Amino acid sequence: MVWSWIWPTAPGSSVSSPTIDFANTVAGVVPGTGIHPGRLHGDLAARFRDAHAAAAARRRAGEMGFFDLPADRELAVRTRAAAAKVAGRFDALVVIGIGGSALGTAALTDALLPPYWHELDAASRGGRPRLHLMDNPDPESVAALLGLLDPETTCFNVVSKSGSTAETMAHVLVSWNWVESALGPGAIRDRFVVTTSPGRGSLRKLADDHGLCALDVPHAVGGRFSVLSPAGLFPAAATGIDTDALLAGAAEMAERCSTPELVKNPGGVLATLLHVADTEMECHVHVFMPYADRLRGMAYWIQQLWAESLGKAVDRAGRLVESGPTPLPLFGAADQHSVLQLLMEGPRDKIVVFLGTEAPELDVDVPARVADELALAYLGGHTLFDLLDTERRATAEALRRAGRPNLAVTTERLDAHAVGSLLMLFQIAAVYSGELYGVNPLDQPGVELGKKLTYGLMGRDGYPRPEVPRSDWRWRV
Ligand code: PA5
Repeated sequence: MVWSWIWPTAPGSSVSSPTIDFANTVAGVVPGTGIHPGRLHGDLAARFRDAHAAAAARRRAGEMGFFDLPADRELAVRTRAAAAKVAGRFDALVVIGIGGSALGTAALTDALLPPYWHELDAASRGGRPRLHLMDNPDPESVAALLGLLDPETTCFNVVSKSGSTAETMAHVLVSWNWVESALGPGAIRDRFVVTTSPGRGSLRKLADDHGLCALDVPHAVGGRFSVLSPAGLFPAAATGIDTDALLAGAAEMAERCSTPELVKNPGGVLATLLHVADTEMECHVHVFMPYADRLRGMAYWIQQLWAESLGKAVDRAGRLVESGPTPLPLFGAADQHSVLQLLMEGPRDKIVVFLGTEAPELDVDVPARVADELALAYLGGHTLFDLLDTERRATAEALRRAGRPNLAVTTERLDAHAVGSLLMLFQIAAVYSGELYGVNPLDQPGVELGKKLTYGLMGRDGYPRPEVPRSDWRWRV
């Protein structure tokens, strides 16, 4: 019997859409473990039908606005118009945001801007701005970044769904003062674009009070699900990314994931396999491992999506479950020389999701002549992509032989359409996973306490100063 576990690109699709190859999770293929393939048509199919129905009901109830973003032409047009004003005018765009308000932009721009974008001159960037992210309030990096920039030619895009996150708002105050002291108050209006919830929050008020350009993150779109809203689209459009293709890829993936039939639904397959790996195969660590530098930002974005959506104390019924897989981004081939030893021989608590492309935008030949002289003939005549891709396939096979399950999500190319598809695939897989775990994938109550304690300690109005014990000298060395 010939097994064909390669997830086919949607029939009739002329553009690059992700493929999921999950052969190395199948019992009989991966020694000593794996999912019996019959289950995909049996109990797992039934379980997924329920998860699909629950997610669809929540979508109908208006809780999952990210599904509707690709079709929101008006929002996209407004975002592109705002971006056009920035694109040719400024040399640098600084995105101020954190968590879901920054990681999506990093995923998008890592994937779709040419590598070393910052190092290119203005002509090579087509007059588009360099892009910087200000997320962590580390004074040394913030001061260093501002020290490199010219207030005259720098624009800030402040992204915050709540409009009140401490790190983001502190960065606003610092950069606002930096612009104002250099250029005067009149310079602020053109140099700050805010992206936030409509009609509420301190950031929205700041924008209204000062007549700043303000873009909306729709109410039903949560932070880590906002990459295809103006939160990600504005910096993408300002740097020249094809946002139409991005949204078209996302829409196509949403369509592919609309069926309740498990074996036809890529988001369902991804969510189901990883849920089974965690809950039945002891694979509590989900490794996301791109073999393309352009997918590094995507791996960190997936890490947040998985961790905040699935790491929950209680299930939907309020029962204590303390559930959720641990997402771990690793990077091929470099981490083969760092972490692969652990994946191969350490605890059998991991499943690896490889991410990659079948063809790079450009390739580099490894010359044969010098290689021959150095007895490195096996490398000569290949390309660097041959090596990188062969290493991905070799690592997957090595893991399989060691009885370590793994699967691969690949795209034909890594263009805007494919990246839009990947972003939608993982967002949909996250909400299906939430249903499979029985938890709410859209909230993040676990991060609230730390925020409240910070506000109290920093003296924010309405937040009592908490008792935080001083470190005890007896337990220090
Ligand atoms: O996914 C989330 O909801 C969080 O990671 C938020 O994006 C993060 O806390 C930042 O919040 P905000 O966008 O309100 O500034």
